[in-house]
Amino acid sequence: MQTATPYPHILHGCDYNPEQWLDRPDILSQDILQMQQASINCVSLGIFAWAALEPAEGDYRLDWLAEIIDALYANGIRTVLATPSGARPLWLAAKYPEVRRVRADRVRELPGGRHNHCYTSLVYREKVRAVNTKLAERFAHHPAVILWHVSNEIQGECHCALCQAAFRDWLKARYGSLDALNAAWWTAFWSHTYTDWEQIESPSPIGETGIHGLNLDWKRFCSAQMRSFLENEIAPLKAENPLIPVTTNFMQFYDGIGYHELAKSLDIVSWDCYPAWHSSADGDESEQAYPADAYSDLCRSMLGKPFLLMENTPSHTNWQTVCRPKTWGFHRLTAISALAHGADSIQYFQWRQSRGGCEKLHGAVMTHANRTDTRVFQEVSDLGRTLQKLDALCGARTNARIAILYDTESHWAVNDAQGPRNDGIGDTELMLRFYKAYWKTGYAVDIVDAEADYSGYHLLCVPMLYMLRGDTAKRICDYARSGGTVVLTMHTGIADEHDLCFTGDTPGGGLAGLAGIRFLESDPLYDGQHETMHIVKAPFPLAESYRLEKLCERIAPAGAEVLGVYDTGNPCMPDDLPCLTRHACGRGTAYYLAGFAEDRFFSDFLPELAERLGVHPVLDTTFPHGVSAAARQGRDGTEFLFVMNWTREQKSVTLPYALKDYETGKIYQSKLPLSPYGAKILVRA
Ligand code: GLA
Ligand code: ZN
Repeated sequence: MQTATPYPHILHGCDYNPEQWLDRPDILSQDILQMQQASINCVSLGIFAWAALEPAEGDYRLDWLAEIIDALYANGIRTVLATPSGARPLWLAAKYPEVRRVRADRVRELPGGRHNHCYTSLVYREKVRAVNTKLAERFAHHPAVILWHVSNEIQGECHCALCQAAFRDWLKARYGSLDALNAAWWTAFWSHTYTDWEQIESPSPIGETGIHGLNLDWKRFCSAQMRSFLENEIAPLKAENPLIPVTTNFMQFYDGIGYHELAKSLDIVSWDCYPAWHSSADGDESEQAYPADAYSDLCRSMLGKPFLLMENTPSHTNWQTVCRPKTWGFHRLTAISALAHGADSIQYFQWRQSRGGCEKLHGAVMTHANRTDTRVFQEVSDLGRTLQKLDALCGARTNARIAILYDTESHWAVNDAQGPRNDGIGDTELMLRFYKAYWKTGYAVDIVDAEADYSGYHLLCVPMLYMLRGDTAKRICDYARSGGTVVLTMHTGIADEHDLCFTGDTPGGGLAGLAGIRFLESDPLYDGQHETMHIVKAPFPLAESYRLEKLCERIAPAGAEVLGVYDTGNPCMPDDLPCLTRHACGRGTAYYLAGFAEDRFFSDFLPELAERLGVHPVLDTTFPHGVSAAARQGRDGTEFLFVMNWTREQKSVTLPYALKDYETGKIYQSKLPLSPYGAKILVRA
């Protein structure tokens, strides 16, 4: 396991925009002193600085940046150097209209904004490559530069003529012939058979939206195009110095791009973390915390190594419905939880609040008051001092024996499908219910996509894998037959990689045989409606019954033993309809859950199942409500344990053995006290 960057310390950094302050040398010199006070060891520079780097076409001005990088470095602060492609200079947008994005309704955007370029435009690619080349030539061997931050929050799609042409070329390469494309897209439906490649247009609200194969391939194309755009950015950086790693920052559960596709071109995954903290009525932040930790786990699982937390706010955002600041002590809690789930950095948006522009009221380490005696500055500084003691954590690995399969392409397809439930099919929610059960009980979990290698896991959870692409189904079957345990759910194995429904018994691809069941029909529920699962044969202690919501499925056993049945009080329904089954297959076992169960089912079922498979939580104890835990193994063998209290109440965790507070050295023999929103970094005493 390597450290994320050549700098072997946990990064404590921030987006830094000195280009907004070039006429204020007093501020720039203060910045360095104040950063040192806050134990900031790196800054992300140049993210939106293109107009300062190239004020007119071909007129590169890099000296100001060099001076700042040098001055920071002389004071011990490294640079994460960004490429500026996230926002274009106005001269570029005005002179070359083709760089401006065309929306799905076929309207070309005006100059301005950000994250809104055509990723196909050769002009844009050339201009980006040129400025990146200049940056690389000048800085790729600078000892301060530890990482390239390529573009910023790359996102969206362009529907211009260049993109349409590239899409058609991509389709020609994928299908070879229109006949093959028409077959894959089922275009006989509504007489939409293509007879000329030129008839193919990207999905549009003023055109085609009803061909799901088209919709799916368009998203795949956009992801591939984005990746090739990224590679065009990366090439000049790597050409100059291949040793500096490259990342780009992802957004939590953003599904406009296949991030797994992009990650193939990155050395490190990073993400920007902005949950709506403090939106609960009772101060219990668990509901915000576990999806954030899930996303950390997902990012860690993408490349199987630590990720960077490229952005989070030290205080508040300015774009949420209500922009509450993190309360006293809460920033430390969120940071430690990110570290616990695999982050090798805590970085902020932003170092200093802008005076103008739409982000002027966004939180920052330094506010307009320009004071260091603020609560936020103090909390950031305290955290910085903590991070300085955590070198042994840098590059530390997570040992997860449980994987949850969450596939972006399947997510696209299941949400594009009309029916069975158009008021939210709930695939992400279901995945998070699996995750939450393990989060609450302190189990390490990887969240992997369909292409992952499942062989190392003891348990593979497969919630609502609607689409089975490639050899996914076969690999799930092989995994189970060779001794793995699989939990499949409703609405799995409906369609193949073209989003064409399987014919014959489903779940398709052999999963029906694996689960020993056969799908009969879907019965989606309105919000507020529910059904009940009655446990008839508990494989281990379970409650008598559980509530089911959203989406239930009628299935017939075909070899599986029935563990739970529907119990609806509906006199029309037979009383032995299975809802939860188990099937032995080869050396392994497949469970099938036909109803969208309440949290309580997952909490009762999943940790116990893991336990029976010899998989244990990071600490063998029962965590009180609102307390989570995670572990990482340092490169020097140190076993770090992190315990987080997401509530406003004092909590206490019973310890199976003595633990030592890694920061203070204090030993806890049998009880670990946690203050409200407290977090502890521990090792075995
Ligand atoms: C995103 C962007 C930043 C900034 C923050 C504000 O994460 O990457 O440039 O706009 O949001 O929260
Ligand atoms: Zn375009």
